[in-house]
Amino acid sequence: MTVQRADFPPNFIFGTATSSYQIEGATREDGRQDSIWDTFCREPGRIRDGSSGDVACDHYHLWPDDLNLLSELGVNAYRFSVAWPRIQPTGSGPVNAAGLDFYDRLVDGLLTRGIRPYLTLYHWDLPQPLQDLGGWTSREVAHRFAEYAAHVAGRLGDRVASIATLNEPWCSSFLSYEIGEHAPGHRGDRRGALAAAHHLLLGHGQAMQAMRAQGVKADLGIVLNLTPAYPATDSPADRDAARRADGTANRWFLDPIYRAAYPEDLLADFAGDLPDIRDGDLDVIAAPLDFLGVNYYSRTYASADGQARPQGAGYTHMDWEVYPQGLTDLLVRLDREYGARNLLITENGAAYPDERGTGSVVHDPERVAYYQSHLGACAEAIRQGVDLRGYFAWSMLDNFEWSWGYSRRFGLFYVDYQTQERLWKDSGLWYRDLVRAPVAAD
Ligand code: FCB
Repeated sequence: MTVQRADFPPNFIFGTATSSYQIEGATREDGRQDSIWDTFCREPGRIRDGSSGDVACDHYHLWPDDLNLLSELGVNAYRFSVAWPRIQPTGSGPVNAAGLDFYDRLVDGLLTRGIRPYLTLYHWDLPQPLQDLGGWTSREVAHRFAEYAAHVAGRLGDRVASIATLNEPWCSSFLSYEIGEHAPGHRGDRRGALAAAHHLLLGHGQAMQAMRAQGVKADLGIVLNLTPAYPATDSPADRDAARRADGTANRWFLDPIYRAAYPEDLLADFAGDLPDIRDGDLDVIAAPLDFLGVNYYSRTYASADGQARPQGAGYTHMDWEVYPQGLTDLLVRLDREYGARNLLITENGAAYPDERGTGSVVHDPERVAYYQSHLGACAEAIRQGVDLRGYFAWSMLDNFEWSWGYSRRFGLFYVDYQTQERLWKDSGLWYRDLVRAPVAAD
């Protein structure tokens, strides 16, 4: 059955999401200095098409037009992130007024258009001088993050609907230190990954404390990328691979936040590489959340050799399996096992190789199908009693897809990078029709 507006509560949040480094460009303007992604992009071989976020979607200049497009789309919320190196170019010390002013204008521009601002404090653009101190492997960076959070919340916390501390700490730890695909690009450094994960969580908890002490009105929480793992077969080896994948991607972050403890089985697996976890750290990390943001794209199909592929599955341009059932399963699990309330899907979407044709609309039938099935999966979770309050499509615009550069397109709007034109895609039109449909009177 096709998903429709009536499958969601009347006050449901429908938005789109972006992040600073992926869309803003203007990396040298108004006092901004390098983040770890500026550095990473300059290292040969790191970005598949050799590109960087220097220009990206030029959103730093085109933001009023982009906000007008959001109005046309009809969404009632927009998720964006603040670039720390615009606010504190060296990662500490006084605020750079020009940097904070940009987000001040953006927030007011959203409110004028009746769109609720959902702010993320950290979507991976760590000021380079903090990386020079060891980045997230250094405990000091957690304290710096809490200070930065207080600066931003002090200025914008009364006008934004929500503030998320971190986006996807798994990426800033395991993907950045062990897998090496994200800045700073260390490979095989399990110790570094675990130290980074702990300090990210600690920074999250300290930022929550600092913002609560300020009496910030916005809802406060965190955004995790959660990937359910299913064993390819019933063999003990595949089941153990699924346990480990689930442990690293999901429980290593959920358990400290919701239970003030790291999972026992993973503590045993990681013994020898564990960071300095001090008394009281877990209580800080487990500060109660106003909301949990969930980013969902696909599942892990776990096997002992890491090679199993499910039969008959569809894949996106990222080679991620299309598996909407995983989203329902994940939401139900968060409700039943963690008692999670006020859930938001803060990212969900798909890359496909879109092409600009001769017409004014780009046709992307696979992305439309992806959104239909995944919003349907959300509706199913709500039917099963999950307290899901909102959904943000990733992404509003095609943008700089990290180590894939501009070779992967996730937007509801197509971006022509030569001209900076934005074109509607069929998926954007489809989403507009869904979110603008009249809410049934009850
Ligand atoms: C998520 C990131 C987001 C985007 C999507 C495709 O992991 O949060 O910036 O790259 O993946």
